[in-house]
Amino acid sequence: MKIGVLGSGIMGNGIAQVFALNGYEVSLVDVDESALQRAKETMTKSIEKILQKQGSDQTSEDILPNVTFSTNQSAFKENDLIVEAIVENIEVKKKVFAELESTCDRKTVIATNTSSLSITEIASDLDYPERVCGMHFFNPVPVMKLVEVVEGEQTSKETIEKVEGLAQSIQKTHISVSDAPLFVVNRILVPMISEAIFVYDEGIASKEDIDQGMMLGANHPIGPLKLADLIGLDTLLYVQRTLLNETGDPKYRIPQSLKKLVRAGHYGRKSGKGFYQY
Ligand code: CAA
Ligand code: NAD
Repeated sequence: MKIGVLGSGIMGNGIAQVFALNGYEVSLVDVDESALQRAKETMTKSIEKILQKQGSDQTSEDILPNVTFSTNQSAFKENDLIVEAIVENIEVKKKVFAELESTCDRKTVIATNTSSLSITEIASDLDYPERVCGMHFFNPVPVMKLVEVVEGEQTSKETIEKVEGLAQSIQKTHISVSDAPLFVVNRILVPMISEAIFVYDEGIASKEDIDQGMMLGANHPIGPLKLADLIGLDTLLYVQRTLLNETGDPKYRIPQSLKKLVRAGHYGRKSGKGFYQY
């Protein structure tokens, strides 16, 4: 089985890695050559960590040949599944899905790793929207066990079954979700992160104390402000805008400090600065 991954950022490189570690041939495509180079370096370190933990005799040199790195979508031509993991913007995703449909085989399933956007809308301009669904991984992909499989209005049963089977084959557990803003986990998690940012903006506690509070008082593995930085503040802002716009509910208002950080280009861990410095 051949797997294509579009976008080699935080999520794309993790998704490509888990498929490669499970024996799939993977084509990883990004518009940015330097993003592909960074992805290769990140994957090498992460694969080494995992193989070492498993007590395996293999090294990253045994796994990385399963992945081809390219800036050209023609690498996807004969793939069984493509997972799109590019910027969280509906217009960009719709344009890219039209390109993907014209590049790949009629039978290829095209899944999106969107955190928040409508699967139905992403597929709305396609000739064969039944082959589109959500395959929502969690960050960091090699560690997090869940995949949300999201059914759009026009998604076929065959598409869902194929994606569920593939998720299982890479040792992920899936939950089945209907097409709704932010799906299940983010619908619950993102308002919690947002509330933590309000607590910070209101000067109720330092960022360190807010994070420590949630780690020690609620047993979270990292605090919510560190988690925001891990996700990427640009992505988090896109997701929060979707939640506010789609529901129209003012309880989902967006914290000013999040907007300010994103406007300044401080996207969290991936840019070196967010709520914390990296
Ligand atoms: N690749 C491979 N292994 C990794 C890894 C990676 N990228 N990142 C962490 N690990 C491994 C480490 O090697 C370590 O393994 P051991 O315990 O065997 O030594 C283990 O994970 C823990 O890592 P660390 O000791 O470095 O640090 P930590 O204990 O703080 O764990 C973490 C890091 C796994 C990220 C943990 O903090 C965590 O689970 N945080 C919460 C993550 C979370 O909530 N993710 C969801 C985000 S929301 C989302 O993804 C959806 C969306 O659409 C926005
Ligand atoms: P990122 O910013 O780390 O990476 C995005 C990558 O896509 C970049 O390398 C960029 O060069 C590339 N790209 C942009 N436009 C492209 C195009 N037209 N063709 C090919 N490549 C293109 O973003 P990310 O955090 O990996 O997020 C990707 C997707 O995954 C988003 O939809 C996001 O909502 C979702 N997601 C993110 C997380 C998270 O915690 N970061 C978790 C789950 C899902």
